[in-house]
Amino acid sequence: MKYDFDKIPDRTGTGSVKWDFAGDALPMWVADMDIETFPGIKEALVSRAAHGIYGYTYDTPAWGDAYTYWWRTRHSFDFDKEDLVFATAVVPSIASAVRKLTAISENVLIQTPVYPVFFSSITNNGRTVVENKLLYDRETGLYSIDWDDLEKKLSDPQTTLMVLCNPQNPTGNIWDKETLVRIGDLCEKNNVRVVSDEIHCDITAPGKEYVPFLSASETNRKIGVACISPTKTFNIAGIQTAAVVAMNPDLRQKMHRQINSDDVGEGNCFSYVAAGAAFTPEGAVWLDELREYLWANRVFAQDYIRDNIGVIKAVPSDASYLCWVDCSDITDDSRAFTDDLKNNGKVFFNPGVDFGGNGESFIRINLACPRQMLTEALERLKHHIDKKYRK
Ligand SMILES: Cc1ncc(COP(=O)(O)O)c(C=O)c1O
Repeated sequence: MKYDFDKIPDRTGTGSVKWDFAGDALPMWVADMDIETFPGIKEALVSRAAHGIYGYTYDTPAWGDAYTYWWRTRHSFDFDKEDLVFATAVVPSIASAVRKLTAISENVLIQTPVYPVFFSSITNNGRTVVENKLLYDRETGLYSIDWDDLEKKLSDPQTTLMVLCNPQNPTGNIWDKETLVRIGDLCEKNNVRVVSDEIHCDITAPGKEYVPFLSASETNRKIGVACISPTKTFNIAGIQTAAVVAMNPDLRQKMHRQINSDDVGEGNCFSYVAAGAAFTPEGAVWLDELREYLWANRVFAQDYIRDNIGVIKAVPSDASYLCWVDCSDITDDSRAFTDDLKNNGKVFFNPGVDFGGNGESFIRINLACPRQMLTEALERLKHHIDKKYRK
């Protein structure tokens, strides 16, 4: 391997949400990696910082070229750089879409369990969350779509927007083309628009590729927009840089207007530089090595949980560096469980209850860290469970 992902970072004094919130517990929660970013990004930022003038900056054509290059070469999907709207991050883009594409008190559909901020992006704007709960097969650990329920909820005239998570956080489902076409067709039939959050798209299992929602059909391009970003892939969430792709000019204009009205359409002078340095051929080399490392972490964690802990079960996943773990044999109160683990087991995971759906008896483990740290976290988890839950 050309890159070293085993190095344990010291994030003390950097205002790290992940570390500071966890206190003296090992932080295995929020989706940011304890792995240094691609060196090409660091060099580009250092070089920009060395310039000494940090005036207002806009999205140059090179920024758009970087995105189109990446999606064409890595995801076999062509769009024009003019189809992009810059946004400081994905969450504000989703909130802008909710404000622009729906009216107060209308329903926004999400498939749960899902990234918790989807709930607040909807409710904070006075809209109503409608959950299409994913079906869970306890034997296989696999999640699938409840199509009858989806169709019923989309056909409610109050439902005007669906926020799709593609690939899915936390279950790790990669939605295939057929599924995406079917979702798009159902939404079109019911006058529902789609925002597809694709922030986890680059980190997939070996041999597995995500399918961009907009690539799946002409209908999807007509009714949908996608939120994309290098921040999860390259561990640069603190830089604040993202984009909305909208191939339908009317939707693009709407998103552009709202993102600007919400004042989340102007990046800082590092936002564009970071994205431009990430989506490059050398960035792809780094990413492929990282994917191998993260996949080995997943296999390690799944095996460790099965062989050494046993009473909990890791859900099989095809995407992201997040591991969704079924703890239903020992708890139906994931918040009490994770609080206890934090305070007494000295390791902190996300409580599944925040994700809706059947999340109350699950925890989410962030696997994106050096193997040594992951091992320590799993040992703490095992020790805690052995002490408290074994007869
Ligand atoms: C599905 C999903 N969307 C969005 C975000 C956050 O994106 P941003 O930092 O660009 O707002 C996350 C972070 O974990 C996520 O998992």
